[in-house]
Amino acid sequence: MSYLNRKTIEDIDIKGKQVLLRCDFNIPFDKNGNISDARRITESLKTINYLLNNKAKIVLCSHLGRPNGEFDEKFSLKPVADYFNKILNIKVKFSNDVIGENSKALASSLKESEIMMLENLRFHKEETENDVEFAKKLASFAEIFVNDAFGTAHRAHASTVGVTNFLPSVCGFLIVKEISVMMSVLENPRRPFVAVLGGAKVSDKIGVIENLLEKVDTLIVGGGMAYTFMNALGYSIGTSICESDKVTLAADIMACAKDKLVKFLIPVDNRVGTEYSPSTEFKTVQSDSIPEGWMGLDIGPKTEALFSDALKDAATVLWNGPMGVAEWEKFSNGTFAIVKAVAESGAFSIIGGGDSAAAVEKLGYVDKMSHVSTGGGASLALLEGKELPAVAALNVK
Ligand code: 3PG
Repeated sequence: MSYLNRKTIEDIDIKGKQVLLRCDFNIPFDKNGNISDARRITESLKTINYLLNNKAKIVLCSHLGRPNGEFDEKFSLKPVADYFNKILNIKVKFSNDVIGENSKALASSLKESEIMMLENLRFHKEETENDVEFAKKLASFAEIFVNDAFGTAHRAHASTVGVTNFLPSVCGFLIVKEISVMMSVLENPRRPFVAVLGGAKVSDKIGVIENLLEKVDTLIVGGGMAYTFMNALGYSIGTSICESDKVTLAADIMACAKDKLVKFLIPVDNRVGTEYSPSTEFKTVQSDSIPEGWMGLDIGPKTEALFSDALKDAATVLWNGPMGVAEWEKFSNGTFAIVKAVAESGAFSIIGGGDSAAAVEKLGYVDKMSHVSTGGGASLALLEGKELPAVAALNVK
């Protein structure tokens, strides 16, 4: 489905209008409660500044985490409002409720170029239930709905789909950017097109693998999911993660890649440990002989070289998912090797998924990538060729 025919913020007159702006501020925090990755906030600024310059009155809303429909301080959006006020120097009035008296009062007193932010939408279970009355109340705060929450575009919730039944609804600049980059690569990639998939589970990425096999020249599989493929090849994989009900499917996928002349690469060696712990003893072994009692926790150095070589001449690279337990120093080499290889390839590169994006950020390579997506599940849904309900619900041009 092409979404490029959806109306954008530039297709309507928003001058001086009251706008409900849905962003995805579902961001990570460190142990001390500080925002550890603010990219989803900074990526929303283009739309926010455009609205401010057009004297719109902005009612900003988002979810954070999964608080199960109840107030829970640790999921409050107050730190995000503070980030706008203190770090970005953009004045945001915070409401401590979502559709309550405080929000109503703030919304009705908003002046041109002012911003208010609602508390976490998911403090009401009606948000994820896409409840009609809840959506109607949210919509009553505004004259126009702008959705810029790409990260939440795969969710049909009250603030992403429900409100579109009550307001003229368009997308912001971030959704336009994410979708046009992703669609251009999926529909018309420069070749060779190499995809790198990682992460723990094959089951999370089956749809993506099947869809990508139709499009790529090379498919590289690393991370926890690779062990199911090794098992399908009859390798001994020790205690490595393996989805036994997906082994046949893994074998079918490899056969299908062969039929389609897609080069399919899995690790040839692995860094393995005796337990799933950052302090486990570890060593490097070949993929076909992981000893009993040892589990794969990262790709090995020969695999880094093999994968990097496959990336060297790529014209387009799409990468989603780490090669190992990248947050543990001992098992981060493989993921960082991919970051470097993608950056050095000079290919048009798209990075999706929180862990891959975090690795790129950690090495300071964001500027060396063509596009680092703000979407995890949403970018996977696009890669699978699935519909994004929140974008589908927006007005057509
Ligand atoms: C995400 O981070 O993927 C989005 O914000 C969606 O969050 P969810 O998986 O809790 O719906």
